[in-house]
Formats: sequence, structure tokens, C-alpha cells
Amino acid sequence: MRVFVTRRLPVDPAEVLSEHEVEVWPEDGPPPAAVLREKAEHADALLTLLSDRVDGALYDAAPKLQVVANYAVGFDNIDVPGARERGIWVTNTPGVLTDATADLAFTLLLAVARRLPEAEALARTGDFGHWSPTAFLGLELHGAQLGILGFGAIGRAVARRARAFGMRVRYHTRSEVPEAEREGAEPMGWDALLESSDVLSIHAPLTDQTRGLVDADALARMKEGALLINTARGPIVDEAALAAALESGPLGGAGLDVFEEEPRVHPALLERQDVVLTPHVGSATTAARRRMAQTALRNIAAVLAGDEPPDPIPGSRAPE
Ligand code: 8YV
Repeated sequence: MRVFVTRRLPVDPAEVLSEHEVEVWPEDGPPPAAVLREKAEHADALLTLLSDRVDGALYDAAPKLQVVANYAVGFDNIDVPGARERGIWVTNTPGVLTDATADLAFTLLLAVARRLPEAEALARTGDFGHWSPTAFLGLELHGAQLGILGFGAIGRAVARRARAFGMRVRYHTRSEVPEAEREGAEPMGWDALLESSDVLSIHAPLTDQTRGLVDADALARMKEGALLINTARGPIVDEAALAAALESGPLGGAGLDVFEEEPRVHPALLERQDVVLTPHVGSATTAARRRMAQTALRNIAAVLAGDEPPDPIPGSRAPE
């Protein structure tokens, strides 16, 4: 059967899909929508990335398509109800990038809290002048409150790290989290979380409920000097409002791995010393990216063998 993979992967697809004919898009950027549609016309399976839009028009062009395996844990690039209607499986890569992404969230948190861009830039001049008792004062994590929005696997992995740093951890999420899975963190209402956290870290999926949730109103309610970390999805935060809240208060800094209109970063953030910016690299460890590839390929292999895939996303079960 025919599989189209929209980017080179850190694993040779033939390792998992040796029985099938696999075509890999050879360029670094995504295939243009028209090319993806053309490839989908003959494909039994697609392996897609977040930057590939998978919608009704694509499904309609792909009469043989059985599975879309997204190379990501998030799947906001995919029309899931549309896939379900057509009996197409959609799968993701849960679990395998949890620690990598939590590590990056914590990297950004530490870097922003300790003003790394400013400090690093000064040291890099080769002469940082007089040592001053009042220079580069940042936030001490021990005793500070970390508010976590979204408390799935990645949010909980961040909570574990925060606990080791002596932070008080609070979270807000829609669902009830069993006590045993709270990692010592306590649930809190959204308003209270915003108003009481020294650092707010976002670990929620992009949905109709979370799109634009951290807007000018929400930012205005945060504590003076509070820090915002986003390694989830850019459109959860209004970037222009964030830039304004950094410029005029109350925010003290931000660490961002994801952006409203990737790969573009809001120009008002670019010159700021109080933000740390990374280009959507949350899952970018060798181990995590290899596991993501293996997971996506195994999901395809299962469906093409006539089995249920191991990682179907909720609501994408093919009709019986
Ligand atoms: C991916 C991600 O690197 O898994 C996710 O949801 O955002 C990242 O791990 C990205 O989606 C590439 O497809």
C-alpha cells in the first residue's frame, strides 16, 4: 500500500513499513497544499506534521485514505470529525514527548526567571564591568507559585520538576484529576490561578475554549512581575496583548516556544530582553523525535494491516 510522509524523519520509514511503498517529501518545508492533495489521491496512509492542514477537501481528494498519523501529540491541524465521518483513523504520538517538552518548559522558566538573555549578552561582550549586588535580580523559584493551565501528561511532568525546585504548584483544568495523579499540586479556579501565580505555564491543547484565553484581560489580572511560559500552542495567548503587558505591566517576562502564526513571531517581542524565544522545539530531543517517528509509523502499520491503531485520538474511531 502507499504511504506519503510529509517530511524527512529521524527514523527510516522502511524500518517499520517495509511491506509498503513509502514516499517521503524531500524538502525541509511542508509540501504545498496542492501537492499534499495530489499525493493524498493515491495514498492509503499519510504521516503529517502540525504544519500540514488536513481538512475535508484533502479527505475528499483521497478515496483510499485509511489513516492520518500525526507526528505530534497535538492534532489541531486535523479535522477529526471529518475523518470520523469518512471512516479514516487519526492517530497521534502521546507519551513519548512528555519529558522532552516538560524539560523545555522548565528551561524557559529558569531562563526567564534568571534573566538569561540579558545576562548572557553582557557576559558575551567579553567584559561585564563591575559586579553589582543589584544587577540581574530575578525570581527565586523556591517558594514561588507555579500555575499550570492544563494538567495532562506534560502539565504533570512540569509539576514534578517544579516540586523538586521547591515551588508551590497549582493547576487549572476542566477535568477532575485523581489525588494520586496530582503530583502534590492543588486545583484552582482560572481566575484565582491567574491572580496568584508568580509563573503561569501553559500545557493545554488548542481548542475553541482555549483559543485566545490568555488575552489582554487575563494578562492584566496577573501579578506584578509575573512570568508567562508557553510551550503548548501559540494561539492560546494573544501575542500583541502579551507584548503590551510586558511593556506596561504587569508582566515581568515570558518564555515562548510556540507562536500565534508560526513560523512568524510578533515583531513587538523580538527586541525585548525579558523574553526567551525558541522555534517550537519542545519535543526536540533525539530520543523523543525518534520515538515520535516510530509511534506514527507503527500506527500506520497497524491500520494497513487491518488492525486498530495503538494511538487513535479521541473521537476518531472509524465507524464499525
Ligand atoms: C511537534 C508538538 O514537534 O507534539 C506536538 O504537539 O507541538 C511538537 O512536538 C510538532 O507538532 C511537529 O509536528
